[in-house]
Amino acid sequence: MSEPGRPPASEQNHPKPGGRGARFSAAMDEAAAALNASVKFDRRLLRDDVRGSQAHARMLAAVGLISKEDAEAIVAGLDRVAQEFAEGGRPMDPALEDVHMNVESRLIELIGDPGRRLHTARSRNDQVATDMRLYALAAASEMVAGLDRTRVVLCRRAREHAATLLPGYTHLQRAQAVTLGHHLLAYAEMLGRDRGRFLDAAQRAAECPLGSGALAATSLPIKREMTASALGFRAPTRNSLDAVSDRDFCAELAFACALLGVHLSRLGEELVLWSSSEFGFVRLGEGYCSGSSLMPQKRNPDIAELLRAKSGRLLGDLVALLTVCKGLALAYNKDLQETQEPFYDAIDTTRASLAVLPGLLAGLEFNPERMKEAARDPALGATDLAEHLVREGVPFRRAHEIVGHLVRHAERLGVLLSEVPEAELAGIAPELHPTCLQTLNPSRAVAARTVIGGPAPAQVMHEVERLTAELRGLGFEV
Ligand code: ARG
Repeated sequence: MSEPGRPPASEQNHPKPGGRGARFSAAMDEAAAALNASVKFDRRLLRDDVRGSQAHARMLAAVGLISKEDAEAIVAGLDRVAQEFAEGGRPMDPALEDVHMNVESRLIELIGDPGRRLHTARSRNDQVATDMRLYALAAASEMVAGLDRTRVVLCRRAREHAATLLPGYTHLQRAQAVTLGHHLLAYAEMLGRDRGRFLDAAQRAAECPLGSGALAATSLPIKREMTASALGFRAPTRNSLDAVSDRDFCAELAFACALLGVHLSRLGEELVLWSSSEFGFVRLGEGYCSGSSLMPQKRNPDIAELLRAKSGRLLGDLVALLTVCKGLALAYNKDLQETQEPFYDAIDTTRASLAVLPGLLAGLEFNPERMKEAARDPALGATDLAEHLVREGVPFRRAHEIVGHLVRHAERLGVLLSEVPEAELAGIAPELHPTCLQTLNPSRAVAARTVIGGPAPAQVMHEVERLTAELRGLGFEV
């Protein structure tokens, strides 16, 4: 028999679903509870939640808010809770709303009273913000590692193809000859910047919200630097209202993922194009193609297509996340729970794309013959010819005009640019000497573009060496 106004003993022991405590007499409406519950997706914060709570308990003991014995019981109990939920397959209870309540409730079930002291000087608001930052930091270093593994392969393949000629394109029209190594290193540059974005975002995420409470911190004498450093954060956050209510660190990571996704979509698109019969520049390794259920001859670049498509989803994640945060009055609002799924989706999607890249790139069978053939048209050397004239003292605009005349003349004759009879050159422009047509040779033209950032084989090798040194410095074999 329970006294009127007092909950039955079983309910006194555990936090009520949703942290409702003694304030409510009725349970939440079922559909409302289903909408409110986050445990489906925030259970992935389990490890970070437990780590955060253990650091918090140790700090509470260090400042004398709980006893050493209680802290030890909490830390050991939390280990067990983590193990039960993770490996033991103990299901989390959606009625307990989220991972935080599930962990705390189970802890109290297991260890009793000391467990009831854990939530001292803490709220789920600073707790979830801390968990998500820990999660974000781990995700960022994972993405960096994935990017580095990809850059290693790009670097190797660029070395292999430092001198392989192919057309460079603008507007998808053949423009000027370049080298495959140079083309591959373009992606290494993009991914290098993506790497920087993850590191940069991580640096700002590395502040610890614990101690911010629900929104207004606490009057209890906690030591915020202690939990911050125990969890590997650079420092505690500097404003409790901000710390519990901003998810900019998630948005920054989601943006880094989205932009990486856009870069990978370009690579995916080129692999789709290049592996078509029309281009024939590359064959994708068998492990990275699908067949057709109808057409036995097909070798479809599904993986490259998906790399291209995932960018759409990543952009969607970023927009969803930012839209949720928009217009939220300080401080915590439940809307913030809605940032979690797009954030996790961005991480999962990026992880899956990065996982496939090193193998995909290593297995590409390039067709240097086809590329060279496509780069053979002397018209691709028109710019190089104009630059040759500049070197002989002709103003660039005049040189451009001269080569324009030469191109039209060749078209009228129905011959290649290099096949205009030497005898007719002086008639087109007195500046055109017979030997100048030699600059139309694509390998010669490319080899001359040795400026920093240029496609000449020598310059590609220079960049390959630079990247190799960087990657070796990071501990990779290149
Ligand atoms: N699941 C919640 C979230 O993701 C945890 C914080 C809940 N806080 C609250 N005041 N209801 O934001």
